[in-house]
Amino acid sequence: MKRRRESKIVVLASGNGSNFEAIVKHIKERKLPIKVMALVTDNPDAYAIRRARKLGIPVKILPFKSFKNRDEFNRRLLDTLRSLNPDLIVLAGFMKILPPQIVRTFFKKIVNIHPSLLPAFPGLHAIQKAYEYGVKVTGVTVHFVDEGVDTGPIIMQECVKIDENDTVESLEEKIHRVEHRIYIEAIKRVLSID
Ligand code: GAR
Repeated sequence: MKRRRESKIVVLASGNGSNFEAIVKHIKERKLPIKVMALVTDNPDAYAIRRARKLGIPVKILPFKSFKNRDEFNRRLLDTLRSLNPDLIVLAGFMKILPPQIVRTFFKKIVNIHPSLLPAFPGLHAIQKAYEYGVKVTGVTVHFVDEGVDTGPIIMQECVKIDENDTVESLEEKIHRVEHRIYIEAIKRVLSID
């Protein structure tokens, strides 16, 4: 039987990196034909970096504050991504908005995870906003990245119920559990891996 070529992915994260770790572990455990080329981060203090080192994934740090301006950062990010030549770019808590040039260069090759049922609660602090609004159901969305903020075509969504006795923290935990399960499923779907 012909072996399929490994798909190459790059993960971008700015903070904790729990989604990044869940993705890498799933790929390793299931021996999926996916190679995680690198973790790319704009934040030299991101906990995701420690996770990457433990997992043996190369790290590219582009410290946002050390660039003259956003354009220079964006140029370096584009160069970095081009040199890695991924089949898919996976945003996992990456807290910088990608410029149109990157979105156009990697059209339909960038996915993002967002902790709400888009189009509800886009942008920052989505979990807290949903909790404070008092919705009874929120959830997780995986979508393609376009030039807007959290507006691209939706690939997958899953609901999370908010119970009477939930706190923001308990809701956050429930959302993360769902994220860690569905992000890799969405990635597999986009890469046509079963
Ligand atoms: C996740 O909850 C993700 O949905 C959210 O950041 C968190 C990152 O967690 N992303 C956004 O809010 C993007 N708008 P992690 O660093 O532990 O993976």
